[in-house]
Amino acid sequence: MTLLEVEDVRRTFGGIVALDGVTFDVTAGETHVVMGANGAGKTTLFNCITGYYRPDSGTVRYRGEDITGMRADRTARLGIRRTFQEVDVFDELTVAENISLASFETQPREIMARLDLIEIHDKYGDELTLFERKRVALALVTDGDLLLLDEVFSGVNPSEKPAMLGYLEELARDHTLVLIEHDIETAFELADRMVVLDQGRVLAHGSPGEIRTDETVQEQYLGEMAI
Ligand SMILES: Nc1ncnc2c1ncn2[C@@H]1O[C@H](COP(=O)(O)OP(=O)(O)O)[C@@H](O)[C@H]1O
Ligand SMILES: [Mg+2]
Repeated sequence: MTLLEVEDVRRTFGGIVALDGVTFDVTAGETHVVMGANGAGKTTLFNCITGYYRPDSGTVRYRGEDITGMRADRTARLGIRRTFQEVDVFDELTVAENISLASFETQPREIMARLDLIEIHDKYGDELTLFERKRVALALVTDGDLLLLDEVFSGVNPSEKPAMLGYLEELARDHTLVLIEHDIETAFELADRMVVLDQGRVLAHGSPGEIRTDETVQEQYLGEMAI
């Protein structure tokens, strides 16, 4: 089943065309990776899906319903949740308090257990390592069905990377994930399908195998990284 459809979405900021006719879709249950260089439009795409920004034109559908331009609090209620590049955890609240602020249908304790947060439940936000903050930020969105995760690995210590992969795989068991991921190796490891953005346009969309062998991607994106 198609969960999310993005069709011909365009978004400009003054003279900058951040998204230039982006079309792709996300199937329920899959892990979909969004790749692209800095400034390619990845975060703007998330903002247009979740309603933080309204597209200039084009359509966003969720479970077949047109949600184009719907406000972020309403898309969240429909089950679309996102994390931010800058981790948003309250410094002056403990882990448990941060998590209790989100309204969950499931028990907060169960969510904390899945992300190994129980042992640090009474640590304050400003005492957490970046990796711990990222796990709290993930916990805060687990109530959604479609999770849009913006650069979850950035700033994460290489030694913590396998654990982070494990948390994402754990979340992928009962969520549909769309991940913005810079690191090519990680992207290919996690993705069921991928979309590659280049200057606001879709360069390629398909399975990791298709992306790996796509000539345009090879030339314009993977070439210098010699995959
Ligand atoms: N709020 C904004 N105001 C002006 N320009 C923006 C804004 N958000 C994004 N842009 C521009 O749109 C382009 C795409 O940005 P972004 O979506 O953040 O890229 P990415 O996340 O792929 O690095 C960039 O040129 C960026 O400067
Ligand atoms: Mg970004």
